[in-house]
Amino acid sequence: MKKILVIGSLNMDTVIETPYMPKSGETLTGKGVFLVPGGKGANQAYAAGKLGGNVSMIGAVADDSFGKMLTDNLEKVGVNTAGIAVMEGETTGQAFITVDGCGANSIILIGGTNAKVSRELIDENRALIEDCDILMMQLEIDPAVVEYAKDLAVSLGKMVILDPAPAKGNLPDSIWKGVAYIKPNETELEILTGRSLNGEEERREAAEQLRAKGVKNVMVSLGGDGLLLVNDDGCRFFPAHKVNAVDTTAAGDCFTASFALALSKGESVEEAIRFGQKASAIAVTRKGAQTSIPSLEEVLAYGMNL
Ligand code: RIB
Repeated sequence: MKKILVIGSLNMDTVIETPYMPKSGETLTGKGVFLVPGGKGANQAYAAGKLGGNVSMIGAVADDSFGKMLTDNLEKVGVNTAGIAVMEGETTGQAFITVDGCGANSIILIGGTNAKVSRELIDENRALIEDCDILMMQLEIDPAVVEYAKDLAVSLGKMVILDPAPAKGNLPDSIWKGVAYIKPNETELEILTGRSLNGEEERREAAEQLRAKGVKNVMVSLGGDGLLLVNDDGCRFFPAHKVNAVDTTAAGDCFTASFALALSKGESVEEAIRFGQKASAIAVTRKGAQTSIPSLEEVLAYGMNL
């Protein structure tokens, strides 16, 4: 099995359940509140670890209770946390997430130690990059650091998977060069390409715009509808499993990690996408980020009794 390295964010998520999203100026009584380990990077590392992958992570937390809870949770599923710096006198990253009655969410991030992930931290952990086969990243740390780590990994012949979330509109073209896979959703694809998209043809054109900048495979997530894969072989649609979503938080992280895990076991791209779709279909039926990630047994059994 190939080795997976995740570089990215760790957040403690404060989740507020609400009947609907409050409007500006409105005071709304929520249904409940709970704390869950999250952060796009940590969610990916946790998911790949829980599914049985060989996983390490580079990131940063503070020497506070949230930082310890986040690293402990990763270690519970076998993730090597040696590359996660523990920073004194700082605050661990946090996310404040509102989930409405349809399972949709809105998220406010407080960067904390995620904003301290630096080129120096990447250099200190160069051995982890040299040792991995697949590098997974997202955009909750400084994009310049993401590009730095990507360039190093590509120069060493590693496969780089980038989930460009949260999407930013002013990224340099150079960030895409040599990236093997990206997985934007439709809104993220609009932000990344600076155009509004209507229909499959325009999505394909936008994906080709990013491929022209150096990404080999673009997987456009269409949420509950499915996923569009655009690569040298053309354009292929993978329909999603129909489920009753209660919370879509981390569904994308779960998909990307499960996809990487399947690739790490030698599965084809198509098989890896289908595996990721099963894992994320289960995740959206559960509350929270890392609390929603299924086990390998659950993913393998998924669909057998439907
Ligand atoms: O992708 C979901 C994640 O986004 C949450 O866990 C939250 O921490 C934010 O980073």
